[in-house]
Amino acid sequence: MKVFWAPKGGAALEGVNSLIYMRIILIGPPGAGKGTQAEKLAACKNVPRITTGDLFRRAVQEKTALGLRVQNYLEKGALVPDEVVLGLMSERMSQSDCKAGFVLDGFPRTLGQATGLEKWMEKNGLRFDAVIALEIPDDEAVVRISGRRQCGACGAAYHVNFQPPKNAGVCDKCGGSLLQRKDDEEGTIRHRLQVYAEETAPLIRFYDRAGFLKKVDGLKNPDVVFQAICSLIK
Ligand code: AP5
Repeated sequence: MKVFWAPKGGAALEGVNSLIYMRIILIGPPGAGKGTQAEKLAACKNVPRITTGDLFRRAVQEKTALGLRVQNYLEKGALVPDEVVLGLMSERMSQSDCKAGFVLDGFPRTLGQATGLEKWMEKNGLRFDAVIALEIPDDEAVVRISGRRQCGACGAAYHVNFQPPKNAGVCDKCGGSLLQRKDDEEGTIRHRLQVYAEETAPLIRFYDRAGFLKKVDGLKNPDVVFQAICSLIK
């Protein structure tokens, strides 16, 4: 398949079908709304949403070798080592459903991961359309995460106050049970915020210098945030 790329920052067009290719990174502290926005964006652009956190949580749930390796990191709110994350993501991004693009949620999260991703993209002749940084203060992150519930079956996200399901504890989309993540208790949330400030926030400068970064106020309601993102990537 022959792919032609638009100038830096623009969407790429596939020569024959004129399909729009979309490769986007969402960055932000825990609770910024990456998962919420990635789900909307992926549905709207018809590309898969790839969430490292969900891939790891599924592996833990299924007790795979990967799950056993990463469980401790997730429970403590620490980062999984770069080589594990890069191995998993290179494999995932190479799958056939990613040909038209993807929305990355939770990856990259360190400068080592960003550099590894850049090398992978270069090797595959690809480039990103945008890196969206969702901004919210720490106290808002704690309120959001402590009230978050996630469907154990389909992964849809809710909040007990801001985005409650129609029936308490039951997913609107698939009827699955809503659960609270183990790393969503306040002490662990504060640790995750600290890890974000130390390890992930430097990526904002990294992508800003590369000319890809677009900042979005994550404090607005989810639909307004989504419109703001869409206006930046169209
Ligand atoms: P991960 O699952 O990626 O967690 P996170 O980055 O901490 O982000 P969250 O999922 O907590 O928040 P979010 O920004 O997606 O917000 P959401 O949309 O859910 O990672 C978990 C762990 O996996 C890490 O700690 C680490 O151990 C490991 N890991 C993952 N990736 C890794 C990597 N690359 N390298 C190393 N380790 C890695 O929204 C939160 C809540 O707020 C929801 O209830 C939602 O309904 C609500 N909400 C969303 N938007 C709004 C809004 N605009 N207004 C009001 N409420 C809102």
